[in-house]
Amino acid sequence: MSKVILLSGSPRAKGNTYQVLEVCKKEIEKEGLEAELISLVGKEIKGCIACYKCGELGKCSLNDGLNEIIDKIRNAQGFIIGAPVYFGTPRGDAMNALQRIGMVSRSSDKFLSWKVGGPVAIARRGGVTNSYQEMLMMFFINEMIVPGSTYWNIVFGGKTKGEALKDEEGIATVTRFASNVARLIKKIY
Ligand SMILES: Cc1cc2nc3c(=O)[nH]c(=O)nc-3n(C[C@H](O)[C@H](O)[C@H](O)COP(=O)(O)O)c2cc1C
Repeated sequence: MSKVILLSGSPRAKGNTYQVLEVCKKEIEKEGLEAELISLVGKEIKGCIACYKCGELGKCSLNDGLNEIIDKIRNAQGFIIGAPVYFGTPRGDAMNALQRIGMVSRSSDKFLSWKVGGPVAIARRGGVTNSYQEMLMMFFINEMIVPGSTYWNIVFGGKTKGEALKDEEGIATVTRFASNVARLIKKIY
């Protein structure tokens, strides 16, 4: 069965990012696909150190738990990342993960090529659109297929956990996006 990996880039257990991705996960499962939601809670994901060893290793030379996530993505057909916005950009660890996942794929077996997915940005108020765009760069340079939705994948929620679920338009947008990811995977795999 086709599978989608959803990666929550927030350090907060069951925070807004995680809860928004739970909505996406349920929608993907409703379409009949398998989905696994992984969280970066408790992990410290380092930035790429540009050692250029991933080409020969087929994995990252850093051992901070990301390689296990990379393997799960490698074996899936879809990949969605969600990140909270910090000072107008996606949280650092989420971008660290995204950049290293992208670098391993580009330098080795191009496992991201033709995988379906995209990013979701979550914030109280500002920086969502450019955060979404920043994350998209990694998807497009790795030949990933990013379906659209009825709006961009941005959801509003502040520090209260679960507040993002009250953003009706945001939730409708990411639900449709998750459904489109699943439907596209069913068409091409
Ligand atoms: C260090 C820090 C910086 C933040 N910067 C922004 C920001 O630039 N724009 C914004 O709208 N919200 C900002 N926020 C709020 C979070 O994006 C928001 O609370 C989000 O829902 C957190 O998601 P989480 O519950 O998954 O961690 C910031 C929060 C923190 C902790």
